[in-house]
Amino acid sequence: MLRRAVLVLLWPCTALALPAKPQTHTPLPAAAQAGRTIYFANCVGCHGLTVQGGLAPNIRRAGQVPLESFKRMVFQGKGLDGRSLNLTMPRYTRGFRPHLGRKPTDTELKNLQLYLRTVK
Ligand code: HEC
Repeated sequence: MLRRAVLVLLWPCTALALPAKPQTHTPLPAAAQAGRTIYFANCVGCHGLTVQGGLAPNIRRAGQVPLESFKRMVFQGKGLDGRSLNLTMPRYTRGFRPHLGRKPTDTELKNLQLYLRTVK
């Protein structure tokens, strides 16, 4: 009786301890990790925890385009298909958090693209 009560009480804990699907924790290369930090400080709220989209579209493909095209998206709001993105998509000419006040560097943008390419 007591054993059953303990099992019933502990069962939810085991359910919480076991992730729904096994996670792999391969560390990201430093540059992609730096891109991940930028993504989580700036983009995650709209584009989603795994870049899957949410309020805003999935932008994994933006990791694959040439740097110049990526800059046009992030600074001028030119979408993947060349159209003007609506103003919900911020124009990041004043920088990424936490470095607001200076334009993002090429390295920051490349790191961000590297990160976008790592997400599945
Ligand atoms: C406040 C919400 C918001 C934030 C924050 C945001 N975006 Fe967006 N983004 C959008 C929306 C909404 C669209 C789609 C706009 C449209 O279709 O007109 C978009 C579109 C895009 C696109 C174009 C996708 C396509 O299919 O053409 C890219 C690339 C993009 N965002 C990158 C980023 C990056 C990188 C960051 C962070 C540095 C970011 N966004 C942060 C809302 C956001």
